Amino acid sequence: MNISVFGLGYVGCVTAACLAEMGHKVIGVDVDAHKLSLIQSGRSPFYEPGLEALVRKNVTAFSLRVSGDADAAIRESELVFICVGTPSKADGSTNPRYLKKVAAQIGRALKGHSESLVLALRSTLLPDLLEREFMVPVRQASGKVAGKGFDVAVNPEFLREGSAVKDFFDPPFVAVGSERREAGECVARAYKSFSAPVVQTDLRTACLLKYASNSFHGLKVAFANEIGILAKAYGVDSHVLLKLFVQDTKLNISPAYLKPGFAFGGSCLSKDLKALRAASRRMKVTLPLIEAVRQSNQLHLDRCAKMLAPFSRKKIGLVGLSFKADTDDIRESPAVALVQKLVRRKFKVKVYDRSFSPQSIYGSNRAFLERFLPNFSRLWVSELDTLLQQVDVIVLTQSLSEEQKERVRQNARGRVVVDFARVFEPGELEAVEYRGICW
Ligand SMILES: NC(=O)c1ccc[n+]([C@@H]2O[C@H](COP(=O)([O-])OP(=O)(O)OC[C@H]3O[C@@H](n4cnc5c(N)ncnc54)[C@H](O)[C@@H]3O)[C@@H](O)[C@H]2O)c1
Repeated sequence: MNISVFGLGYVGCVTAACLAEMGHKVIGVDVDAHKLSLIQSGRSPFYEPGLEALVRKNVTAFSLRVSGDADAAIRESELVFICVGTPSKADGSTNPRYLKKVAAQIGRALKGHSESLVLALRSTLLPDLLEREFMVPVRQASGKVAGKGFDVAVNPEFLREGSAVKDFFDPPFVAVGSERREAGECVARAYKSFSAPVVQTDLRTACLLKYASNSFHGLKVAFANEIGILAKAYGVDSHVLLKLFVQDTKLNISPAYLKPGFAFGGSCLSKDLKALRAASRRMKVTLPLIEAVRQSNQLHLDRCAKMLAPFSRKKIGLVGLSFKADTDDIRESPAVALVQKLVRRKFKVKVYDRSFSPQSIYGSNRAFLERFLPNFSRLWVSELDTLLQQVDVIVLTQSLSEEQKERVRQNARGRVVVDFARVFEPGELEAVEYRGICW
């Protein structure tokens, strides 16, 4: 393919050299004349293992050229990768100046371009910035609209400095966001020789994927360091501990728990997090991330309660009282806390849970119920069908069996469904209204 790459920094130079190595005809464009002359002479503008050899080889083979002329580069391209910087302003927000400028340049060049072009952003940017600081200036400068004359795609880069070339050729996947599928497919063609899967999605999801990944990576480092500090305080080798920790690929290093939905609860998680908080005070170590987990969960539960506020005059039926499906353990269950809040606010609430029966619980479970929901017998409904038929709003807090799902499906019509657990897909139910907390 004929490809141009705007911005030849860490991401752009690696992208340009690697695409050329894959057999594409690449033109690299930058506003920095020194950078251009370094690349033109077969040198890498910065140190990155393996990059200089790729630059030299592909410049010599004429598969990689550089230019300061945006118009000429656009004229010769069917696909343009944009890799300009998106640095922070003093307040932490993204400085859009490079983005805006490159958008205006590309937009002007598009004016005289009869072919449709795909503009694929590799720069990291938030969805609102993409629209405001890139798509709008391109539209204004070109006089063309997205989908006719040009398409915008987002193709986030996951390379790490220090192993950028290796990471480029061996990504976990190639993510491409676009409005039109054809535009995404054009970007995907550039990576045809990769064995990694190409995942097509929408523009906003592709933008946020990069932020979700980076914040998770930061979270992992901070978590490992906090566990390390705690381990040291107990005289435990944190490396031995975390080596064991990562061997659990069922729950620890896995997709488990990574599904936005209802708050967590249960007798273990909450209790153990509280114990760590107390221990950190005792041992005089500060663990802000671990402490924030409970606060974040509490805040999430408050958000869930707030979502139900408009239904104060309706009959609410909550399906799922225990902290997760298939257990009758209600200790520290977020659903109990939610029901308690609703009862205090005088909402009309009914509750059903397939694994729970107020008659059969005893010990700490019973004590918990009596303490937090003393009038529970007035709320309890022993059959799901009875509950579904009595209420205006169905609230789902945990996963359901196939049979239960079918019952909810049949009873959803004419009712509002608030699906905290994302039991259903949006559009799956014939509810008058279907809502969730994180979607
Ligand atoms: N560095 C990384 O490891 C990494 C990894 C993934 C994503 N990213 C993202 O990729 C983007 C680029 O990062 P970087 O580290 O390569 O930045 P960088 O500052 O190293 O490079 C940006 C380049 O863009 C050039 N440029 C600016 N305006 C231009 C214009 N109008 N036309 C042509 N070139 C122009 C600059 O001269 C510079 O060479 C950022 O959004 C960053 O967040 C970076």
